[in-house]
Amino acid sequence: MGRITFIQHDGTRHTVDIEEGKSLMQTAMDNLVPGIDADCGGSCACGTCHVVLSEEWMAAAGVAKDDEANLLELTPDRSRTSRLSCQITTTEEMDGMVVRLPEFQM
Ligand code: FES
Repeated sequence: MGRITFIQHDGTRHTVDIEEGKSLMQTAMDNLVPGIDADCGGSCACGTCHVVLSEEWMAAAGVAKDDEANLLELTPDRSRTSRLSCQITTTEEMDGMVVRLPEFQM
């Protein structure tokens, strides 16, 4: 079992257990991590599950599909390493992953 750390914009850290096969968004929701609203329930339609990965975890998270990339274009505070957490499936290889939550989602 691995662990992932979510860091809110104010620096507050939330380290939670990975449940293999669950989305990163659902992992945050199930652990009451603030800042992930997930208004659309994970159907890649709202952009309120935005996270910013560090460079070294981009490969583990996989590549964003077109619908995710298009939605990210419209998302405030996006960066080159932004992803929608509902589109990332957690694996045990993500043990130690750190993701940051954008200021817009405080
Ligand atoms: S939960 Fe709506 S886009 Fe991810």
